[in-house]
Amino acid sequence: MILAIESSCDESALALFDPPKGIAREIISSQAAAHEKFGGVVPDLASRMHLSALPLLLEEFRADIPNITNLAVTRGPGLLPCLSMGISMARALSVALDRPIQTVNHLRAHVHSVFINLHAAHPSQFTQARAELLPHLGLVVSGGNTLLVKLDTNLKITVIARTVDDAAGEAFDKGAKLLGLPYPGGALIEQHAQKGNTQSFSFPRGLPEKSDLRFSFSGLKTALRYQLEKMSDEEVKSQLPSLCASYQDAILGQLNAKMLSALNSGSYKSVGLSGGVANNRALCNLLAQSLEKRKLPLLVAEPKYCGDNAGMIAFAAWADPFAAKAGTVEPAPQLSIDLA
Ligand code: KG4
Repeated sequence: MILAIESSCDESALALFDPPKGIAREIISSQAAAHEKFGGVVPDLASRMHLSALPLLLEEFRADIPNITNLAVTRGPGLLPCLSMGISMARALSVALDRPIQTVNHLRAHVHSVFINLHAAHPSQFTQARAELLPHLGLVVSGGNTLLVKLDTNLKITVIARTVDDAAGEAFDKGAKLLGLPYPGGALIEQHAQKGNTQSFSFPRGLPEKSDLRFSFSGLKTALRYQLEKMSDEEVKSQLPSLCASYQDAILGQLNAKMLSALNSGSYKSVGLSGGVANNRALCNLLAQSLEKRKLPLLVAEPKYCGDNAGMIAFAAWADPFAAKAGTVEPAPQLSIDLA
């Protein structure tokens, strides 16, 4: 049984993964309400909140402690003061229980999170069932990263493309802020967009050349700002649904186009969508439509495994032979977005 700890940003989370069965128990404590008034995550506050939340969450796992064989913890990328809290707790448990620690890259865990349901449905046939879906194209869209990766038949991950500026979730959140919506604004933009017209406003698609797989969202945010400067407060209020629909359409259109270009430049048996922006139903529907024509399955991470969570860290510690470094904790957590 693997006990995983996640504390890379503003969620403290623990999960227990039992390989023959699946994720046996998981608990998450969100700090979102505490950071909302600051319009973003405050690292110092977040780290202090992890310090008080993690031991309380551990209490809920007291009965499972004798069954734990391995500890897993997010080593990065993330906020250094926050990562340190989870890593310190993993170290303390490792010493107390005499169990090894596997340190897991958060982004690799997102890539593998799309297979959690496959494992839950067929735990004993998981390896074979996953092999039939490889090579796999993974689209990771979160608040801090936007990546296209190839998960090969030998489970090696290669980064195909990443964003040159903002992440897709950041584009949602920064756009929401300009529109006067609270942080994090991705889900609110989606809600307003449902009542709006995608054609009402014209927003640019970043790096539109088909041969360029990289993402770019900062120009889109600037275009929204210029558009809003031309409008009165009343106009913005009355046209909010269409502003959201057109802005969201530009983000989703770029994600869909880059996914299709990546598929054209490689050979894949499935596509995965994970990270916080994978909660967006319009994005899931758009990608599913594109993939239906190509008869490729789309695996979408379940909502509870889209944001920061410990379930995907525990799962990756077991499912990804390259994610976890057993028996060692780096002296300092990695901050780069390399998937090492
Ligand atoms: O926590 P997060 O960055 O994921 C991990 O790294 O694990 O996901 C949060 C991001 C935020 O940018 C948020 O606005 C975005 O995901 N998000 C959404 C939706 N729900 C969450 N973006 C668009 N539509 C949504 N429904």
